[in-house]
Amino acid sequence: MSDELISKQVKNYLDSLVPARPTELEAMELYAKENGFPIIGAACGYFCYQMARMINAKHIFELGSGYGYSTAWFAQAVKENGGGAVHHVVWDDGLSKKAQAHLAALGLGEIVQYHVGEAVQSLREMPGQFDLIFNDIDKHGYPDALPVIKEKLGRGGVLIVDNMLWGGSIFDDSDHSPDTQGIREFTRQITSDPTWIVTLVPIRDGLGVAFKK
Ligand SMILES: C[S@@+](CC[C@H](N)C(=O)[O-])C[C@H]1O[C@@H](n2cnc3c(N)ncnc32)[C@H](O)[C@@H]1O
Repeated sequence: MSDELISKQVKNYLDSLVPARPTELEAMELYAKENGFPIIGAACGYFCYQMARMINAKHIFELGSGYGYSTAWFAQAVKENGGGAVHHVVWDDGLSKKAQAHLAALGLGEIVQYHVGEAVQSLREMPGQFDLIFNDIDKHGYPDALPVIKEKLGRGGVLIVDNMLWGGSIFDDSDHSPDTQGIREFTRQITSDPTWIVTLVPIRDGLGVAFKK
C-alpha cells in the first residue's frame, strides 16, 4: 500500500489536532505502531467518536474489532450519550481478551459486549437494530456484509467503513486481489443504492460514511 496517497504531513497534522488521550489509549496506539497492527488511529478514532456523539448513538455494532482501539472511541461516545452498548466482535479469542483488559483499564468495560466469532454472522444473529455500525473486517468480505448491515442498521442510522481507499490499490487496474475487488464492489453497491447517502472521507485510508435514509 502506498504511503503517498495522503501525505505524511497531512496525516500527522490531522492526528495532532486530536485532543490528548488517556495513557491507556496512547499505549494502544504505540503497540499498533511497534507491531504493525492495523488500527484506525487517532484522527479516524476521533471522527468515529464525533459521529457517534452527533447522532446520540446508544447501540453500536463493530465488525472486526481487533484489540479494542476503535471500540474504545465508540464506547466513550456511548458513555457520554448516557449509556448503551458497543458490540466488539473478533474471531480471535486472544484479541478479545486483550480488548477486555484495555476497555476495563479505560473505565469503559461496562459499555462493551464481547463476541468471539465471524463478525457478519454475529451481526446476523443479533436481535434488534443499531444506531451505528462500523465495518473493518477483511476486505474481501465487504460486499457480503452489506445486505446484513443494511438490515441491522436502523433508519437514520450511520454506517462507517474503514479502508475505502485501500492504500490506492483500488486505482491500480492490474490489482485483481480479492481484498481490492471486495472494496471496489462494496463501493459500487453502496453508491448505487438509493437507501444510502454516502461520502468517502479521505482521512488516513479513507472512511466511508453512509446515512441510511
Ligand atoms: C483491521 S483490524 C481491526 C482494528 C480495529 N477496528 C481498530 O481500529 O482498532 C481487523 C480485526 O478483525 C479481525 N477480522 C477480520 N475479518 C473478520 C471477520 N469477518 N470476523 C471476525 N473478525 C474479523 C482481524 O483478524 C483483525 O483482528
